[in-house]
Amino acid sequence: MAGKLSIKYYVEPDAAALARRTANYFVEMIQEAVARNGQARIAISGGSTPKAAFQLLADPNQPWRSRMPWDKLDIYWVDERCVPPDDADSNYRMTRETLLNSVPLRSDQVHRMEGELEPQVAAAHYESLLRNNFRLEGAEMPRFDLVALGMGDDGHTASLFPHTDAIHALNQLVIANHVPQKDTWRITLTWPVINHASSVFFVIGGKDKSQVLKDVLTGPRDMERLPSQLIRPASGILTLILDKDAAALLPATDGEGCGVLERER
Ligand code: 6PG
Repeated sequence: MAGKLSIKYYVEPDAAALARRTANYFVEMIQEAVARNGQARIAISGGSTPKAAFQLLADPNQPWRSRMPWDKLDIYWVDERCVPPDDADSNYRMTRETLLNSVPLRSDQVHRMEGELEPQVAAAHYESLLRNNFRLEGAEMPRFDLVALGMGDDGHTASLFPHTDAIHALNQLVIANHVPQKDTWRITLTWPVINHASSVFFVIGGKDKSQVLKDVLTGPRDMERLPSQLIRPASGILTLILDKDAAALLPATDGEGCGVLERER
């Protein structure tokens, strides 16, 4: 995978500003996709970081809900914990509670990973769903209009955890990944699928992420230890929306709070 990767990061002063910038980015990118293709198919991550932005998108008293072309949007997941959809750890449950319960999406616009099933079965089901919905043939991959990622303080993203089998999965769209560090199974999109998206962005906040973010973006390549380094979008552009604490060890931004890094892909 030759060529340059242009990494653009936007730094916000605090968690509330991070959530507002993220809500705005979702709306703008989804509007652009709908203008281009008449629809927007996005894949979202779970965890805690996205919650505040999802709540802003769902809030009728905020500017974003009314700007979102909900009827043209399909929501998929980047990854899911292998738990039932009403489990406290479920990414689907978090999204339902912060977003889906409050916005006008039909059930056929929401495509959850079936965390309640055997991991391999859930992964196979989701792979089939992607093949059908994106009308894929042979080795084709789905091209999401937007993939939203988080990053753990161990450098994982999606459910691509350090030193786990998922790092080496090249020929599937979705896999079940055993994560010994958490003694659990996860379902995750594979990194080639993520990189095939039209746009990929990270949302990262908190000082506990600052060192690993610096290592991922500016340190030597070590995909086994830092799986987030696997994210090198085919578009050649990677966007990050950060708060000041997470960005503390990155090169200073310009007057508009924007920084740019170049890397070999
Ligand atoms: C998940 C996410 C995962 C998340 C990171 C960061 O299932 O947990 O998809 O990849 O983005 O773990 O999580 P926080 O946002 O909670 O820090």
